[in-house]
Amino acid sequence: MNMNQTALKTRSGPAFDVARIRADFPILNLSFEGKPLVYLDNAASSQMPQQVIDRLARYQTSQHANIHRAVHTLSEIATAEYEEARRKLARFINAREEREVIFTSGTTEAINLAMHGYGRKFIGAGDEIILTTLEHHSNIVPWQMLAEEKGARIRVVPINDAGELLIEDYKKLFNEHTKLVGVAHVSNALGTVNPVKAMIAFAHTRGVPVLVDGAQAVPHRKVDVQDLDCDFYAFSGHKLCGPTGIGVLYGKAALLERMQPFKGGGDMILSVTFEKTTYNVIPQKFEAGTPPIAAAIGLGAAVDYLSVIGMDAIAAHELELLDYATDQLMRLPGVRIIGTAKDKAAVLSFALEGVHPHDVGTLLNQDGVAVRTGHHCAQPVMQRFKVPATSRASFAFYNTMAEVDALAASIRNVQKVFS
Ligand SMILES: Cc1ncc(COP(=O)(O)O)c(C=O)c1O
Repeated sequence: MNMNQTALKTRSGPAFDVARIRADFPILNLSFEGKPLVYLDNAASSQMPQQVIDRLARYQTSQHANIHRAVHTLSEIATAEYEEARRKLARFINAREEREVIFTSGTTEAINLAMHGYGRKFIGAGDEIILTTLEHHSNIVPWQMLAEEKGARIRVVPINDAGELLIEDYKKLFNEHTKLVGVAHVSNALGTVNPVKAMIAFAHTRGVPVLVDGAQAVPHRKVDVQDLDCDFYAFSGHKLCGPTGIGVLYGKAALLERMQPFKGGGDMILSVTFEKTTYNVIPQKFEAGTPPIAAAIGLGAAVDYLSVIGMDAIAAHELELLDYATDQLMRLPGVRIIGTAKDKAAVLSFALEGVHPHDVGTLLNQDGVAVRTGHHCAQPVMQRFKVPATSRASFAFYNTMAEVDALAASIRNVQKVFS
């Protein structure tokens, strides 16, 4: 079947035309050994529409120069486009001010920036950081490094068998030593949507700031950082139909201003002598050196693209895919779905009885179905469910019900091979 011909009626309404959307993504037309690509590894990285590819090409063809440093026309154009991208990202997440958007290389660097800039300055011996069992390693390891360096302590919010945070336990973890909460908005391993707004409100009653890892949320639903009232919010461009090498740390201006710089170098200074350096204002204070200019502009084009489709329509379509896929897989004997939270987004992790996840991934690949197998950089989740790894199908708004059928059919093939 030609997936591009597969029209869908979804909860998102007839206006959500998947075939039309898929036509924007040249890579979705690929076949491998005669098998059409069924790309279900969107949580790892999503694909890029032609509009973003064209924007990158236009920048490289006619707008590229280094930014912020020269008076020549090309540099002024590049600077204006880069700063326009920052404005687009600020609007996309409804930041109060564009200087609250710091461009980073991705979620990982955004969290490391918060750790170095905020954590190393304000967290000390005996202090505590609350994380959750659902965190990606990138929201665990930097805080562990800090805890080791400073003599601080990590406290962990447990989850139930559905993969939901135990919120009463979360509340009990707070005490006078608590200095920061780090929580994923959406779990990359299970798809659980965490009640971050309520968690933030509770932390604030104790005067504790909250960093939200939004890597798996921003691509799938409308995120409003003012409504959440989060102190930091981190995400990656390449999961958002943008390029690799770009991401964002949102931070409340007042917090960012009190933080120390993360990296030293050009652009982040006001003046340098061998005796003393004074630092630039935000956001430049946190963007040392030449930033990924093209990638930032590409990400600006990506959020333009997503905004035209509409994040609510995207969320509705993806939920429909998730519900359908969950239903299909539950019908297959020997399939265990890992992560059955009431509120989930776009991720379906599963285990096949008697088959190692790597074999599942290899055999699905032979049918053209691309899923992720492994621990998904979330080993504490694997430990909690007592599995070494899972297979994970993760959806984007350009996926179709026919692709879900292809996934289910391919899983049946795997079961036949191992029966
Ligand atoms: C929840 C979550 N946090 C952080 C990351 C790290 O993102 P990046 O590798 O783009 O820095 C990922 C990537 O999969 C993720 O899913």
